[in-house]
Amino acid sequence: MVIEKIKQIKESFNQQIEEISLPKELENLKVGFLGKKGLVSGLMKGLKDLKNHEKAEIGKGINLLKVELQKRIEERLGELKAREYKDQMNREWIDITIDPCETHIGSLNPITITQNRLEDIFESMGFQILDGPHIETEHYNFEALNIAEHHPARDLQDTFYFEDGRLLRTQTSTIQIRGMEKLDPPLKIIGTGKVFRCERSDASHDSCFHQLEGMMVDKDISVANLIHFMNIMLEDIFEEKVEVRLRPGYFPFVEPGFELDMACLLCHGKGCKVCKRVGWIELLGCGMVHPNVLRAGGIDPTIYSGFAFGMGIDRLAMMKYGITDIREFHGGKLHFLRQFSS
Ligand code: PHE
Repeated sequence: MVIEKIKQIKESFNQQIEEISLPKELENLKVGFLGKKGLVSGLMKGLKDLKNHEKAEIGKGINLLKVELQKRIEERLGELKAREYKDQMNREWIDITIDPCETHIGSLNPITITQNRLEDIFESMGFQILDGPHIETEHYNFEALNIAEHHPARDLQDTFYFEDGRLLRTQTSTIQIRGMEKLDPPLKIIGTGKVFRCERSDASHDSCFHQLEGMMVDKDISVANLIHFMNIMLEDIFEEKVEVRLRPGYFPFVEPGFELDMACLLCHGKGCKVCKRVGWIELLGCGMVHPNVLRAGGIDPTIYSGFAFGMGIDRLAMMKYGITDIREFHGGKLHFLRQFSS
């Protein structure tokens, strides 16, 4: 009787398992046969009604059945998974041997090329790359940068305001504050991106341009550190030796503050058309971070000091590629952009 049942269960199991196509269905089948209330357990329960000499033999038969079904379930699971994988491979197949250039007709904007290059240089020197929003509050664009509400320095940067008092950032220096809030010193950060000023556009001004901001805060940081990093950056970008000089410059968030000039790469300081006969090209603003700014970023200025700099990426790209009109960058002219496809 029981032996007959074992046979039936086995046959029914073998038939059902072949019809299964999903792992979930297999799980249900397993419960139906091997679960606590399953068919095989039912057989086990029936053992107690048998005579002793039958119990041993039939018990063994049931156990064998259990092992066999378990093994088959595992095998089937393997088969289903392999099939699923194969189907996925067929569905998601791509030809990785196709040359991507065949379909590639665009190119990176020279601003992006220059920005990527700058980020690589600073990253290789251990600087962390941060980002910040284009729409800012007065706090991040002015207050925290030591530019008080009625301070005339706010007039230096003609600002686009929203009706709710927020504004389009006029400088990437906002990222200094956001960076200090997030990170503890010692820190080395840069932030790049678009900035906006209400300017009449001409060959060297646009109402949207790009800046790179950098900041290093640690114990005993001096102007020498600043010059060192500026030299490395410029020599890497222009791929030749570059001479720099500092002139005093006013920026409320640094003290002392400087304008950094670079010797004109065309005439090497003698004076030519490009440098307007001065031999030097004004490149960026920089200086030692003002104690009020460190404080605004939650850093104790009696322990830490730092340098910061900010420069126009557009101007750097113009010098590197010999571009004479800043408006070309956003002009969307293909014949201009195609010159930069690699
Ligand atoms: N944010 C200044 C500008 O836009 C540049 C700057 C940055 C100057 C950091 C000093 C230090 O003109």
